[in-house]
Amino acid sequence: MAGSGVFAEILDGDVFKYYTDGAWKTSSSGKSVPIINPTTRSTQYKVQACTQEEVNKVMETAKTAQKLWAKTPLWKRAELLHKAAAILKEQKAPIAECLVKEIAKPAKDAVTEVVRSGDLVSYCAEEGVRILGEGKFLVSDSFPGNERSKYCLTSKIPLGVILAIPPFNYPVNLAVSKIGPALIAGNSLVLKPPTQGAVAALHMVHCFHLAGFPKGLINCVTGRGSEIGDFLTMHPGVDCISFTGGDTGIAISKKAGMVPLQMELGGKDACIILEDADLDLVASSIVKGGFSYSGQRCTAIKVVLVMESVADALVEKVNAKLAKLTVGAPEDDCDITPVVTESSANFIEGLVTDAKQKEATFCQEYKREGNLIYPLLLDNVRPDMRIAWEEPFGPVLPVIRINSVEEGIHHCNASNFGLQGCVFTRDINKAILIGDAMETGTVQINSAPARGPDHFPFQVNFPTPLLKKKLMP
Ligand code: G3H
Repeated sequence: MAGSGVFAEILDGDVFKYYTDGAWKTSSSGKSVPIINPTTRSTQYKVQACTQEEVNKVMETAKTAQKLWAKTPLWKRAELLHKAAAILKEQKAPIAECLVKEIAKPAKDAVTEVVRSGDLVSYCAEEGVRILGEGKFLVSDSFPGNERSKYCLTSKIPLGVILAIPPFNYPVNLAVSKIGPALIAGNSLVLKPPTQGAVAALHMVHCFHLAGFPKGLINCVTGRGSEIGDFLTMHPGVDCISFTGGDTGIAISKKAGMVPLQMELGGKDACIILEDADLDLVASSIVKGGFSYSGQRCTAIKVVLVMESVADALVEKVNAKLAKLTVGAPEDDCDITPVVTESSANFIEGLVTDAKQKEATFCQEYKREGNLIYPLLLDNVRPDMRIAWEEPFGPVLPVIRINSVEEGIHHCNASNFGLQGCVFTRDINKAILIGDAMETGTVQINSAPARGPDHFPFQVNFPTPLLKKKLMP
């Protein structure tokens, strides 16, 4: 059970404590924030509603701890990270249980999230020792007009206090993807977990506590965005912000001071399908890529762009597979589980209603029970429909029929989001050229988009086409 066993000290009555200065604490606010179970739609957990004064103290603690940590040898930092990774994996069951209850992640996927997080922490330790163990030596006569009269030595130094804000859909994995690199590089952290997913994140932080990291190096504050959200992002004690989420990133970038920002914001991941594609492979990739965790993945396929001549055959194959998906509770490890909040479900419903009014073809009947939305494929979607451009973050997938590859590339590149994409064809030359033309962070060939393996490039994605970054062809 959450908050029991080695985690008993993180609970005060029925409210989970926040973590700072190496200890679990109760907020002086006397208030808590409820976490609603998406399946039962009733309060599952409560977390502390921290105050701005508490945030100030946390920042001071993090700053002091960082100074000492920066002087700690790399191998010692790595040793502690390996220890934390092992504890995280040992404690996968109680942490996964939180993910099931807080964000309705299917039971097996919840365990996978914790295990891969442990692996990522270990990888950061290994890689950090290698990368940070190297510096550069420059000589001045390598630049025109200069003599060999100066030498330059460079090494990598920590930024300071990192504010880490992960999203609800991977509150453990996308937290450690910030914590691991930050710690090995000599930084300290203030983690602000999402409300849904906060309890899983607090359990994860306790694993770092048990590993024996110095006091104040890792801190985790919980509370209402309205009270501490802007206060955190505008705090003068923050030296870098790493944020994963949606439009909030735009607000953060406007409010943050002159600090480095690392952001991963939405994705309208396009799937382009050519006439010669293996349609069985495409259909299974669409179902896995578009509907796993009910489409609540930034890397989920969010728009299918298929050549008209093979569209009927593909839609038929996808529909046959969708009919086999199980729909229900995350505890039963169903394929489709309730979406995270009622407002998310309402947003998805708004996109579906718009598509209905504009006469998209409904391949299944639209069905919703509370936060549970049944899988839905919308065929013959046109660019004037909202779902052609917006991210449902739910189990609803639009199909746009195209008459040329250029049309598909154009739709992909006209989107405001450029996270990932995929292309299906048996012609590798075409696949590489199309991948190169798609303005997305990464492109998978004959495979659904996915972030993993977790050490692959997966970085900055600004929500404007002009600023999209290409990380890999
Ligand atoms: O939602 C964003 C996650 O980083 C996606 O990870 O592709 O491995 O599911 P995934």
